[in-house]
Amino acid sequence: MAILDKHVVLEKNVTLLAIFAFLVVTIGGIVQIAPLFWLENTIEDVEGMRPYTPLELAGRDVYIREGCYVCHSQMVRPMRDEVERYGHYSLAAESQYDHPFQWGSKRTGPDLARLGGRYSDDWHVAHLRSPQSVVPESVMPKYGFLEDRLIDGKYIEDSLRTHRFVGVPYSDEMIDNARADFKAQIDPDGDTDGLIERYGDKVQVRNFDGQPGISEADALIAYLQMLGTLVDFSTFTPDASR
Ligand code: HEC
Repeated sequence: MAILDKHVVLEKNVTLLAIFAFLVVTIGGIVQIAPLFWLENTIEDVEGMRPYTPLELAGRDVYIREGCYVCHSQMVRPMRDEVERYGHYSLAAESQYDHPFQWGSKRTGPDLARLGGRYSDDWHVAHLRSPQSVVPESVMPKYGFLEDRLIDGKYIEDSLRTHRFVGVPYSDEMIDNARADFKAQIDPDGDTDGLIERYGDKVQVRNFDGQPGISEADALIAYLQMLGTLVDFSTFTPDASR
């Protein structure tokens, strides 16, 4: 056939083949990627998703600083074994306020996307102090020092502001009250009305590490206990019409 005869020219000339292969891949790439920049809803809105509270955000910073993502992913893939082990597969919306995202690329330890509520705060404190005390064969490093590192939330307002700059919908009110909300989440006896009003009544308020003062362990555990709990999967139905 004539077209095959012409194709022989490409197959016999490596430079020409490279040029044409490059063109094909470029066009294919543009067709796949370009529409994402114009689509209104690349990420489908899902009920329950909210920006992280100031304390959770501080905990997330600790998570990133300590490199937890090097050993832990935060993305349940839609495969049967994963869904049976970890729970509902991750939705794009669940990482929509993550800058940068924490999907990870390696699982030396288990996926943490659905960790919230799986263990008690005490378990987390013990596990962070010495992972081997609760899981003898664990290769996870010890993070007990986090309990001794107190944080005062001095930069939390700036942190919220920066996240707003990259698209997280923190309101002026959330930013103005960032430091108060940061402290309120750790103190169940204090005034938590503002915090609840701004972030919803599912916000977990308690002294996470069980010790006086706000430590990095408090922030980290607050973050861990929230992971995967924002969307209510008992009522969630994927919207196929979009
Ligand atoms: C060197 C790799 C490594 C690093 C770094 C690491 N972990 Fe782990 N993690 C593991 C392994 C392995 C396990 C499984 C055994 C265990 O539970 O200790 C684990 C388990 C866990 C679990 C229990 C999960 C479950 O579903 O049972 C939590 C929570 C956790 N890690 C949190 C963290 C946090 C938070 C950090 C950062 C402060 C961190 N890990 C850093 C390797 C790591």
